[in-house]
Amino acid sequence: MIDYEDLNRRYAIDESLDVLPGPADEPVVMIRSEHGKACVSLHGAQVLDFTPTGSRPVLWLSDQASYRDGVAIRGGMPICWPWFGPHPDDSSLPSHGLVRQRRWQLCGSAELDDGVVECRFCLNDDAASRESWPHAFELQFIVRIGQYVDCELRMRNTSEDTVTCSAALHAYIAISEAEDVRVRGLHGRRYLDQVTGTTGTQKHAIIFDGETDRIYQDTDDIVYVDDPGYGRTVVVAKSGSRSTVVWNPWIEKTRALADVPDDAYHRFCCIEPANAAADARSLAAGAQHRLRCLIGAEPYGFSIEDLRE
Ligand code: BG6
Repeated sequence: MIDYEDLNRRYAIDESLDVLPGPADEPVVMIRSEHGKACVSLHGAQVLDFTPTGSRPVLWLSDQASYRDGVAIRGGMPICWPWFGPHPDDSSLPSHGLVRQRRWQLCGSAELDDGVVECRFCLNDDAASRESWPHAFELQFIVRIGQYVDCELRMRNTSEDTVTCSAALHAYIAISEAEDVRVRGLHGRRYLDQVTGTTGTQKHAIIFDGETDRIYQDTDDIVYVDDPGYGRTVVVAKSGSRSTVVWNPWIEKTRALADVPDDAYHRFCCIEPANAAADARSLAAGAQHRLRCLIGAEPYGFSIEDLRE
């Protein structure tokens, strides 16, 4: 049983943050700041919505998503950890690790000076996690709602051995039409193509005209999703990451997904700041790594260079 009164006594902030029962009775944290609003589920500490003031939602969430215990919510920003994609040696383990389908603890909230609202979520290893991944860990996920949604995954190895972790902040970006958007910022970067099993080098912008599933390597670039239909550019910036995954399942793969409408591939593309493939991180006993991403909406055609002029 969730004690909402107790959670709100500890973490609610007048007019800015409260904890409510969400879909399937999973608690959600509702955040409102002068800059925008957001909703974060304790299930997976998953950001489900981020809508800047005066704009449309930046993240896509499936209206057929499942919120059941043990299942990952389709959309928003799932946290993939401590492996990315299928488990390297055990196909019976869930895709993308073991924390997006678990309930996290809400463990902090604050209103910062510039009107930004912050909340913190925690998850530690337990008997169930050690069955799939036999290591002690402490995770913290910090979400700050300002003009951008600013998310930071702090992963600490509390075991006595060195461990290797992969991760991704698997953002489903809401778009007007996949065939019309262009994904800028990765020109010249090498990628692993997970559809064909080959490698390639990106030329110019990414255009979606078929299943796209690539791990871009050696990149800390800002990625821009230019969306003429919505008249905006969604900006994805990051730190603690040298890999970025770009995914659109297109027609057949979407049909095979149980929790999305068949035409959903038109309306999202995933841009995922990651520690994937060769960018997996080795953490010595006691070491911490931080993976951070910032996502926001700007006028169509925006580049960070515009701010430097
Ligand atoms: C992407 C992967 O990050 O997530 C794809 O690159 C995968 O290969 C997709 O299909 C969705 O994964 P899941 O486990 O949420 O269905």
